Amino acid sequence: MRVGVIGTGHVGLTTCVTLAALGHDVVGTDHDGEKIASLQAGTAPFFEPGLQDLLDDTLARGRLRFTTDDRDAVAGSEVVFICVGTPARARGDANLVAVENAARAVARHATGPVVVVEKSTVPAGTSARVRRTLERERPELSGRLHVASNPEFLREGNAIKDSLEPDRILVGAQSETAFEVMRRLYAPLTAKGHALIETDIDTAELAKHACNAFLALKISYANALARLCERAGADVTRVAEVMGTDPRIGRAFLDAGLGYGGYCFPKDIVAFERLAVRLGYDMPLLREVARINREAVDATAEKVEEALWNVEGKRVALFGLAFKPGTDDTRESPALVLARRLLSEGATVIGYDPQASSNAKADVPELEVAPDAYDAARGAHCVVVSTEWDEFRRLDLARLKDVMAYPVVVDGRNLFDPQVMVSAGFNYVPTGRPAGG
Ligand code: UDX
Repeated sequence: MRVGVIGTGHVGLTTCVTLAALGHDVVGTDHDGEKIASLQAGTAPFFEPGLQDLLDDTLARGRLRFTTDDRDAVAGSEVVFICVGTPARARGDANLVAVENAARAVARHATGPVVVVEKSTVPAGTSARVRRTLERERPELSGRLHVASNPEFLREGNAIKDSLEPDRILVGAQSETAFEVMRRLYAPLTAKGHALIETDIDTAELAKHACNAFLALKISYANALARLCERAGADVTRVAEVMGTDPRIGRAFLDAGLGYGGYCFPKDIVAFERLAVRLGYDMPLLREVARINREAVDATAEKVEEALWNVEGKRVALFGLAFKPGTDDTRESPALVLARRLLSEGATVIGYDPQASSNAKADVPELEVAPDAYDAARGAHCVVVSTEWDEFRRLDLARLKDVMAYPVVVDGRNLFDPQVMVSAGFNYVPTGRPAGG
């Protein structure tokens, strides 16, 4: 099938390469000329495991190409995905200007029947707006322009796998034609047994927000438990383990630490809360999820302050700057929220991240970055584990302790074993669990 994709960010580019890998002919478009030039030259503009290989492969097979011209992506396509950004406005509502512009572009350039698919996370009710925009722009195509919602559930760092081996494919639509087209599009995956769930559009849009908000809620629940465990002398990692043995709860997303970041959770939780208010049903539960998440960074900063007495003039090394391991993405990274707070308190902050150092430096110019963990720790009065990259587990603890000014490790992700750290001579401060020793 011929498929157009508007927007080549994380979601859009993943959509491009995975649909091309499934055998479709895909044209990706973006207004960012630099990004398109890089893609045309065959280089993925960000790090995502497996992305570059799949890009090489699908470009070589002639299944995928890129353009800055919307017309090129839309004209002749049976399906056009809208994968543009939906950033938060000042009050937290999703800014849908790019979605409207994309809908207009589809209407302008559509040459035949087309299914316009929202993949960006949008508030329930957006599809009706998209449909109205299409009908206003091209009334003569009425009945031939279909709208569907096909929310992404892909995690950064796992995006390719999540797309090619999805837990479920969710399609919301209004017309049988749209369902039929989407079934054909995903036939290579449903043939392998991946479930395709069909709903109305509002349900699909709301389900996406509901999933993200629930995952964030699990993390905040774990972080609130961490605060309680710290006061009770209990161990939040064991509490999570116990909870996880109940299949009704599940162990995933109960890791207490610095909290959630990234492009999705922080903005989606606020946008969902704003939507609820707009619909006349206040959900303070969602505000509380966001508050506990902010508190998680504050609690870690307070551990640093407690360990160092005065932070002014001290050197703090952050191990990990990305919002989670496996990505170079620093958007809304709790590590950088912590970095800004410590800098504002007069500390020198030096970070190391296997992938995200340059993005972090661009976000927080006062942050120093080091080429490896030992370099970052050299002369530091405190190391904070802020992102749980695997390579930190393999550090030579004796060497680490040797290069530091004070042997203080605040473990914001419970990466280390408390007993091991204490035996290695560290003043070890974990999150939501006893310090060991
Ligand atoms: C998320 C959703 O998982 C995905 O389905 C959605 O489509 C997009 O948003 P992503 O933003 O890539 O994906 O990150 P995810 O792996 O979900 O982690 C989000 C944040 O939560 C990270 O900052 C991570 O460090 C944090 N987290 C996760 C915790 O603090 N504790 C946990 O137990 C799990």
